[in-house]
Amino acid sequence: MREEIRDLKGKIQEYTMPYRELMAYYKCAIMEVETKFKVLSEELSLEYDRNPIETVKTRLKSVDSITDKLLSKGLMLTVEDIENHIFDVAGIRVICGFPSDIYTISEAFLNQDDITLIERKDYIQNPKPNGYRSLHLIVEIPIFLYDQKRPMKVEAQFRTISMDWWASLEHKIRYKKDVEVPKEIALELFQCAEVAAALDKRMEQIQKTVENGCKKVPDLRK
Ligand code: GTP
Ligand code: MG
Repeated sequence: MREEIRDLKGKIQEYTMPYRELMAYYKCAIMEVETKFKVLSEELSLEYDRNPIETVKTRLKSVDSITDKLLSKGLMLTVEDIENHIFDVAGIRVICGFPSDIYTISEAFLNQDDITLIERKDYIQNPKPNGYRSLHLIVEIPIFLYDQKRPMKVEAQFRTISMDWWASLEHKIRYKKDVEVPKEIALELFQCAEVAAALDKRMEQIQKTVENGCKKVPDLRK
């Protein structure tokens, strides 16, 4: 019996090893990217006397979500299909103070010579019809293992505090839920996103005015 259990454990390990290995590589890629933002944050906080990066969050996609995504795309449950078709296994979210910080930070990140841009979706310039705003980048970054250099894909999302606040609550309320929310609720959510965006704009205007040493804040509501 013990023998059989040992055999079974061995089989499971053998079967799941490629998956665990791939996840370990994604974890390394997350660490690489996270370090880059920590370095930028450290440097820019000295240069600007205020830190444009508020928070950095990371996550590794769960096996459940990976499986759901593979199945929904009609793909195979293989490490090859994960690596070639699922580009958000490694995810990082950078929360900034003001909208312009998002472009400062993301451009500094993309200018680094080990980062290759694969895809850029600017939902700030072009918000989703439901009001969602964020800048999404899929990048490739090399990780250095003891006997090889391996390019890995990472999804980086950039948002202001208010975009993040809206997206988190909207996610709780409805994102990817099977049941469609009533039209009135969707409109309410959209209008909240618009208010949040207008506030971001006003706060940025105040910040710029103060930074330039002016006392009077232009009235943006006109
Ligand atoms: P997937 O990557 O398969 O999800 O589809 P896609 O590539 O069309 O989506 P996209 O890259 O535009 O968005 C992917 C991620 O952005 C999601 O997993 C969420 O984290 C976030 N996101 C996108 N749209 C929304 C939205 O309407 N509401 C919220 N709360 N988050 C969103
Ligand atoms: Mg995507």
